[in-house]
Amino acid sequence: MYAPYPENMMESIKKVEATRAERMATEPRRLTADEKDALLNEFHPDRKPDAFAEIKIGPNKGQKAPLELAKMLHSTSRILNEKIDLSKIDYDVDVLVIGGGGAGSSCAIEAHNAGANVMIVTKLRIGDANTMMAEGGIQAADKENDSPVQHYLDCFGGGHFDAKPELVKRLVMEAPDAIKWLNELGVEFDKSEDGRMVTTHGGGTSRKRMHAAKDYSGAEIMRTIRDEVLNLGIPVVEFTSVVELIKDDKGQVAGAVLLNMETGDFAVARAKTVVIATGGAGRMHYQGFPTSNHYGATADGLVLGYRAGASLRNQDSIQYHPTGAIYPSQILGALVTEKVRSVGAQLVNVNGEAYIHPLETRDVNASGVIRECKEGRGVEVPGGAQGVWLDTPMIEILGGEGTIEKRIPAMFRMYMNYGIDMRKVPIVIYPTLHYQNGGLEIDGDGFTSIPNLLVAGEAAGGIHGTNRLMGNSLLDVIVFGRNAGKQAAKKYKSVTLGNMNLDHVQSYDAELVKAGCKTDEVSPLLLPKYARHER
Ligand code: FUM
Repeated sequence: MYAPYPENMMESIKKVEATRAERMATEPRRLTADEKDALLNEFHPDRKPDAFAEIKIGPNKGQKAPLELAKMLHSTSRILNEKIDLSKIDYDVDVLVIGGGGAGSSCAIEAHNAGANVMIVTKLRIGDANTMMAEGGIQAADKENDSPVQHYLDCFGGGHFDAKPELVKRLVMEAPDAIKWLNELGVEFDKSEDGRMVTTHGGGTSRKRMHAAKDYSGAEIMRTIRDEVLNLGIPVVEFTSVVELIKDDKGQVAGAVLLNMETGDFAVARAKTVVIATGGAGRMHYQGFPTSNHYGATADGLVLGYRAGASLRNQDSIQYHPTGAIYPSQILGALVTEKVRSVGAQLVNVNGEAYIHPLETRDVNASGVIRECKEGRGVEVPGGAQGVWLDTPMIEILGGEGTIEKRIPAMFRMYMNYGIDMRKVPIVIYPTLHYQNGGLEIDGDGFTSIPNLLVAGEAAGGIHGTNRLMGNSLLDVIVFGRNAGKQAAKKYKSVTLGNMNLDHVQSYDAELVKAGCKTDEVSPLLLPKYARHER
């Protein structure tokens, strides 16, 4: 017995095993562009009109956003009825970084190294972030058979040509240096005996350019840059959320109102430049999806920036990672890294058919899984939900015994915890809410339309268009995080702050009332709806 699977699943596994040799001999073909469009139109969650609402006020008025995000944009500020004394400055810095994940940390390191007085404020602990949860790797075109141009084409095309070209250009051009920087800081990348980095394919890549630290690449990167932040002595204010940006009478960003998550006290941070690096939105559970995201991923930065007047871009584009765990229920929504497919596993339906190429782009593969389940070719798991198989024993057959433990040990351990030996039996998956493709719009240097306000990492919009490729998120947090730190450190020198105020909070609220769209909730959300609030 290699898995606690019920009879119906074991029956289906017999079909998976019966077709394996033939499936391995003939790889599933790639879909044509028209076939992909048809699949996306019919099955991708982003194409469900009733899952979206119109944004009623602000720079993106008239555009759509997921229902849950629109609700937050239409909710009341947490400080609307609070008396915040802006003359009492608790922190006074050149660069205020909101968020202690990969983007915030690399931003702070570069700002510090450029001589700025920088501080990180983070609502949980430094490193509690989606960067920490990233598994499969980080893309960079740094091998002889590859080039940033090739990487650009993959990224821009994979994102349906909806990204901002100057952002894609920065992403791919600075990728090799990002890997070098991380390597020199001490990230333990997988290397072959000659010292060269081991690289693999991800969905939609035309070259093997995924650099990894086994299947805990994000944790290894976060460990390294967190150590660097702490070693440099950069102040980090933990368990403290930003609940509103502060502006000045010149319309510049001038700091932020902080909320101590433990005591409920407010504090004021004055800053000449502010970088929003608050990460993603998985814990908003759009359309009821489970998520691979960390506990604090609640789209806070989007609400803060929008209320201050910054515009959003591609806010209606969400990434559902095709392979989230669906069984056992204890790991529902947990990421099953794309690397499982990079190293050989196929997606297989209940009848043992490899119905799609395993390395189509994520939106296409997520739609394929949903289609198989909706059309009766899914595998039913205890509790009644459906998923499809990831035929993991193929990895050992293709790569040799020991490949799973060597290349994807975190996956192996996660399943072994529940008695499932993925070397011997397939695992069952379903899409999980993984990434917000859009966010606050930035220019090529990371600035928003609000003077001195920058955004980096998952909170930024425009880098990935309407579908991100694997490994371009770890890359984006490093490239745009570092860049934001350098830009902010350059910018603050010419900034003279005026009188600080929170007028935008009042006027935003007045607009909500006028538009008749104000909800009875407060935002930013800060913690998921199911959080226990104890003091
Ligand atoms: O599948 C993964 O390992 C996820 C990687 C990513 O989102 O870039």
